[in-house]
Amino acid sequence: MTSGLHDGPDAPGTPYPLDPLSAGEIRVVAGALRRDRGVEPPGWRFAAIDLVEPAKAAAGPPGREAAAVCWNRADGQAYRGHVSLPGGAVTGWEHLPGVQPNMTVDEWHECDAMLRAHPLLTGALARRGITDMSLVLTDVWAYGAALVPERYRGLRIGWADVWHRGSEDGNPYAHSVSGLHPIVDLNRMQLLELEDVLPDGAAEPPGVMGEYLPKLTGMPLREVKPLQLSQPDGVSFTLEGRVLRWQNWELRVGFNHREGLVLHQVGFRDGGRLRPVAHRLSFAEMVVPYRDPAPDHYRRTAFDIGEWGLGFMTTSLELGCDCLGEITYLDAVVHDSRGEPVTIPNAICIHEEDNGIGWKHVDDRAGSESRRARRLVISFHVTVANYEYLVYWRFYQDGSIECEVRATGIMVTSYFPDGRKPPYGTLVDQRTYAPFHQHFIVARLDLDVDGPANTVYASQSEPAAAGRDDPYGLGLTIRDTPLRTETAGRQDYDWAVQRFWKVVNHGVRNGLGTPVAYKLVPGAAFPPMIDRTSPAFRRAEVIGHTLWVTPHRDDERWPCGEFPNLSEQDPGLPRWTAQDRPIEDTDVVLWYVFGIHHITRPEDWPVMPVDTVSFWLKPFGFFDRNPALDVPPAH
Ligand code: NI
Repeated sequence: MTSGLHDGPDAPGTPYPLDPLSAGEIRVVAGALRRDRGVEPPGWRFAAIDLVEPAKAAAGPPGREAAAVCWNRADGQAYRGHVSLPGGAVTGWEHLPGVQPNMTVDEWHECDAMLRAHPLLTGALARRGITDMSLVLTDVWAYGAALVPERYRGLRIGWADVWHRGSEDGNPYAHSVSGLHPIVDLNRMQLLELEDVLPDGAAEPPGVMGEYLPKLTGMPLREVKPLQLSQPDGVSFTLEGRVLRWQNWELRVGFNHREGLVLHQVGFRDGGRLRPVAHRLSFAEMVVPYRDPAPDHYRRTAFDIGEWGLGFMTTSLELGCDCLGEITYLDAVVHDSRGEPVTIPNAICIHEEDNGIGWKHVDDRAGSESRRARRLVISFHVTVANYEYLVYWRFYQDGSIECEVRATGIMVTSYFPDGRKPPYGTLVDQRTYAPFHQHFIVARLDLDVDGPANTVYASQSEPAAAGRDDPYGLGLTIRDTPLRTETAGRQDYDWAVQRFWKVVNHGVRNGLGTPVAYKLVPGAAFPPMIDRTSPAFRRAEVIGHTLWVTPHRDDERWPCGEFPNLSEQDPGLPRWTAQDRPIEDTDVVLWYVFGIHHITRPEDWPVMPVDTVSFWLKPFGFFDRNPALDVPPAH
């Protein structure tokens, strides 16, 4: 990053090279491919239309370009087209043999409409006493190739759950139609077969209370007095174009259909100098294996980023409800499968929060001195069918960055017989259990600590052996081990030695004479605890380690491969890192795997209180002393 990139406002009408595609640009891309390559909906679909971000090493602003992944429904063949902007010339056209592009929102809706009108499904539901199809919801999932029946190999295939609302506004996920699973050819949009087994305990659906709307729970609501925030003098941040400046922090706010929010060129202004911290921060994959081999759940391994896209799933935020205080919103623009732009109003929220005490000391003579901690929060929310993920990137006055995810929404459930204990889940309602599952999130952290040449160290604490120098057996030492190649860069969390990772720039020293660094503070790391031969693990070997470190490559973006839909083996991080490339004193990318090991609770039903996980990036000798010393006292 050069500091010049942030200087001055962008010229009106001229997008900055990292600005997301506009609605007009999406139209140009789709129109060009329609005109030159016959990508004509509905026979063809667009899976992804995205900005080609300029190469990191590029000297100057390149020509603006977009890439689109599309496929022909007639033969299932996928292609990638490149289109230059603003002119709309098709500059590339590449066949992508043997891959299935990501799922699209249009397919989800069209599949639901097709299934709910299908006589096979209406018949099966009628036999179970369900005749009002307006109360039925089907929910198509993608799955792994190894689980697809041989006769359907090579098709663009999905499997679906069937759900039943108790009333017009009732929660569909309250009532599982257990054992009923349509298998669908998504290209022909046809039902291939209907799996119809009646699992034990499902013949007579239990009396589940799965509602959360007050009008449906009928519960009297408790009393809570209003709590309001006011910032009478306005906010302490500025947003110029997509450049955000706050309390020495500067960054660019990006967005795309797959990762959702992306933070570019994150730097900290220090003594008149903009010091780079990160080139790019985002979530690159999310893997959610359900750990229940029952017929309702064995296929349920979601790749919410690679299969569905956090950007596509982003929902609008509402003032006073989702965020509190003086809020600045940014809209996001994605697209549908016909290549038409879709605007998500208020997709990204930017606001400041008070976070209690930042630092404090009470001295006998000087009295009490304390500072409140203020943080800048950049957030977005996604709804992936039954589940919500709320993502918060928080910047602090002391140079720290916190990344928090809150999971909420409705758990998937199944029925089981009276008097038994569900082996792979928790009882959450009458004869109803929620299967155990895991949410692995892979954060792609392209850090540039005072520049791109960085070395990652595994740092662990070790008690010194008692001896002549330490007769009291008190000494605690730190062992810093440089990770020299990608094999060493595969790291696991280790509580016993309090392992963390330090990203060091040996070329820059602080005022104390030591090299500057940022520390990755591992939070919410957990082991996969899964058989290495399981089809779910083979598609997502990334979950086998807490941290992976690679040398930066512009084209290494997706840890489980670009096309995890119907994948069989993880062609991403395991394959790249098998080269064992050097990562010392290099432009490194850290892939941090964290999330929620979800042992379901009765209290998670019928709607989950947020499950909150986070990790931190903290300066470690990046500054000479507490960088929040100059924060003024609150009046
Ligand atoms: Ni969960």
